[in-house]
This record gives sequence, C-alpha cells and structure tokens, in this order.
Amino acid sequence: MHYHIGVIRGDGIGPEIVNEALKALNKVSEKYHRDFKYEDILMGGCSIDVYGVPLTDDAIMAARLCDAILMGSIGGDAKTSPWYKLTPDKRPEAGLLKIRKALKLFANLRPAHLYPELRSACPLRDDIIGDGFDVMIVRELTGGLYFGKKETWVIDGVATAIDELKYSENEIRRVADKAFQIAMKRNKKVTSVDKANVLESSRLWRKIVDKEHEKYPEIELIHMLVDNCAMQLVRDPKQFDVLLTENMFGDILSDEASMIMGSIGTMPSASLNETAFGLYEPSGGSAPDIAGKGIADPIAAIVSAAMMLRYSFNMTEEADAIESAVKKVLADGYRTIDIMPGKGSEIIGLKEVSTAEMGDLIAKAI
Ligand code: IPM
Ligand code: MG
Repeated sequence: MHYHIGVIRGDGIGPEIVNEALKALNKVSEKYHRDFKYEDILMGGCSIDVYGVPLTDDAIMAARLCDAILMGSIGGDAKTSPWYKLTPDKRPEAGLLKIRKALKLFANLRPAHLYPELRSACPLRDDIIGDGFDVMIVRELTGGLYFGKKETWVIDGVATAIDELKYSENEIRRVADKAFQIAMKRNKKVTSVDKANVLESSRLWRKIVDKEHEKYPEIELIHMLVDNCAMQLVRDPKQFDVLLTENMFGDILSDEASMIMGSIGTMPSASLNETAFGLYEPSGGSAPDIAGKGIADPIAAIVSAAMMLRYSFNMTEEADAIESAVKKVLADGYRTIDIMPGKGSEIIGLKEVSTAEMGDLIAKAI
C-alpha cells in the first residue's frame, strides 16, 4: 500500500523547510518500509507566477486525490512583492483560504509545548515555566471573519469597510466536538475562548459548546474571554490543556503561544476535516526576509510531517520516532539561529546549524 502525499512547497522559506521534512519522511520510509509517493502542487505566489491565480481548480482536484498534504508556507513581502499589487482574491493568502474551505479543513490543531531543551529560548520567567506546559490549540478554520461577507464602499468621499463574523451552530458543534475528543486523549480539560461579553456570535459559540459538553461529562470545561486568554497564556500557560477557539482568535493566540515555545519556527499544525485527510503546515509564515539564506528553522515543518503520520496515516510509532529525533538533536545542542539563546551559547555547548544541517541531523536520528 502506498501513501499519496501532496507537497505544497509554496513561497519564502516554504521550499527550504519542506525539503527537510521530506528528508525525515524518506528516512521513515526506509526504516519502517513505508511507501510514500509525493506529488508537487502549486499554491501561493509560485502559482500566481505560473497561472495568474494562487490556486487553480486543477490544484484543488490534485489535492483532493491525495491522502494528505504537506505544506511549507505561502506569501511574500507585502511592500515589495508584485503579488500584492493584485486584488485580495488573487493574492497568495487567498490560495490558502481557498484550499482550507474547498477541503473542509475546519479544525486546525496547533500544539504549543515547551521542549525542555528550549527553556532558555522561552521568554517567560523560570518560575512561570515551572516544569513546562503543553497546550493544544484547536482553532476553527473555515468560518468567522475570514469567510464572511467583505465589502468596502465610499459615500461622499468617506470610505467604510465591513467584514462579517458569522458562525452557524453546526460549524461550532463540529469543531467543539473535535476539541472534546482530543481532550479525552489528553488531560480532559477544554478552555473555550470567546468574546461573549460583546459578540453575538460568541454567545452562540458558548451555548453550543456547553451543549456539546453534555456528551463529555468527564471533561472539565472552562469559558474564557479572549483578552483574558491572551494574558493567561503568558501569565500561566500550564493551566491550559485544550484551548478551543474561533478562527481569528485562534490565529492570534497561536502566534502568541508559538513565541512561548521559543520560536514560531517550532510550532507545527494540522488542518483536519471529518475524514482522515489533513493538511499539515508550520504555523508560521513564509518569512521572506530570511528566505534563501539557509537559516530557517525546519522543526515546525518536520513535526508537521510527524503529525501527518499520526493523524492521517495512523502511524504512531513512526510519528513518535520523528518527534524523538527532534528532541535528541536539540538535546545534543544543535540549534538554528532563531532558537540560539544568543551570546555565550557556544560556552554552554550549543552549536548553530543551517536549515539543511538541522534536517540532516534529525533524519539521521530517526
Ligand atoms: C496562519 C496564517 C494564515 C491565517 C494567513 C497566511 C492567511 O497566518 O495560518 O495562521 O491567518 O490563517
Ligand atoms: Mg497566523
């Protein structure tokens, strides 16, 4: 049996970090006798350059026929890239939103845990870190502000713009259910984040999450306002197990959570639908400022590949092997520049390596 993996390298650091994730997958394939077939799919700026649009219908069709998708990142420098002279619906980001919607990838899992080895890269105080934290963010991915009606109009020379924030109970229910299921396999605690003191959509969110919770009596459910949650993530991240939230709040909180891991370059993600299919990508962006320099951190991409093995292919041992290899290489003192603690690091035995060296070391450790 072979596994058909769509590979979206994308833009910026995307191609570099995907290369490293493929090294890990190739090592898994060799060691565990797994047959992975890769198919390149264009999305983002690189697709605009060829087809004039960030995602073609053929690309969506190709993605649909895969068992899972491994993705790098899309987008460029909004100030200098010609992609941003196009209308918003033709820009790189529109491709990502389109594939999420087309493949119904409504649940975005973003794990934020601290590798003990990266303690010195974490900006939080030692007493706050304690013995570490492990938060699974479950972000709704195909609704809310991202997909609501958008419009700009001008009356008497005054411009006004609107983005609609809409959620149906079905959209809330399915992602809440996903969060509860995930919590059942972890510490059985869900913090649902909303802005129910202001937003109508959040009040519905709370009501439906409460209703769904009735099916999971073993789980402790806490509702938290998003502004408080942003504060709690840096005040005491250990209080969280599964953090469930809507699309926009999840976008913002997951970037915040990635920073307390040490670097956005280490946070993977899985975007899932109702089937075993998933799209796996680092949570961070295309980082055009460091693209092509060979310094990007490939860990998020490599661990995203591990998530793919775990969630789409049910290959627990193989996924564990990749994650252990990442830990071993960090324990051995290897770091890309984003997770180097700075001056004096060599003295404590840390060694700075390039993107490709990091990928080689991790593949070798599998
Ligand atoms: C992310 C990114 C995307 C998002 C952008 C590139 C559209 O920030 O995956 O978090 O906002 O969802
Ligand atoms: Mg984001």
